[in-house]
Amino acid sequence: MRVVVAGGHGKIGLRLLRLLAADGHDAVGMVRNRDHAGDLHEAGASALVIDLEHATVPEVAAAVDGADVVVFAAGSGPGSGAARKLTMDRDGAVRLADGAVSAGVGRYLMVSSVNAVEPAPDDDLHAEEDLSDDEVFALYLRAKGAADAALRERDLDWVVVRPGRLTDEPGTGTVLLVPSVPRGSVSRDDVAAVLLALVSSPVAQVTAELVEGSTPIDEAVAALA
Ligand SMILES: NC(=O)c1ccc[n+]([C@@H]2O[C@H](COP(=O)([O-])OP(=O)(O)OC[C@H]3O[C@@H](n4cnc5c(N)ncnc54)[C@H](OP(=O)(O)O)[C@@H]3O)[C@@H](O)[C@H]2O)c1
Repeated sequence: MRVVVAGGHGKIGLRLLRLLAADGHDAVGMVRNRDHAGDLHEAGASALVIDLEHATVPEVAAAVDGADVVVFAAGSGPGSGAARKLTMDRDGAVRLADGAVSAGVGRYLMVSSVNAVEPAPDDDLHAEEDLSDDEVFALYLRAKGAADAALRERDLDWVVVRPGRLTDEPGTGTVLLVPSVPRGSVSRDDVAAVLLALVSSPVAQVTAELVEGSTPIDEAVAALA
């Protein structure tokens, strides 16, 4: 399958591209920095240069045209300020969804976050200046929730995965992937392996939280169906 991963040079994205390529998929990573393409090639993937905060929906649609699945594994990252929680974590994810719908891509996997806040019907998020770190984090969780809600309204198959705190520990191959999890962490290796399993799975229109656990990943994904 042709799988386009937004955030292709990110810590989860690059792990996922490696797994996809090793599994025989046509793995494509979206990067905004042309210099990152070499690392994707080393991972067995090809690179598309596109900035999800500044591209138009037709440009995103052209980039994902022909893909079977798109994965949103991009993010503004810590320390990036309040404004980018909206321009990247919310609007970048929604632009990818709009581009996917426009190009006829059938499936979208969202890397969201545990504790993402579902928006109220009249929610209007603003990135005010001089927010504390805690306030910026709260805005991030609302931006992630708003992106998830927008994705659910789009006409494609979607899965929203909400990991707990991410670590760079080696993957275990086992997880807890259920609608609601206790507070916990999960390795980026295991998140990437869950996404790989979801690429070819029939699971759709499901939101699940993800932390470390004892269920083999293929079983955990199959149990979501
Ligand atoms: N940290 C946590 O504990 C945690 C917990 C739950 C969920 N998450 C979510 O997990 C996801 C991925 O995590 P990660 O650790 O893999 O993140 P990461 O290493 O920071 O990767 C994020 C990627 O997004 C890219 N990006 C940023 N702005 C972009 C833009 N305008 N256009 C295109 N790409 C852009 C970055 O590219 P550059 O290299 O060019 O900046 C980077 O490669 C994010 O959605 C995050 O919100 C994180």
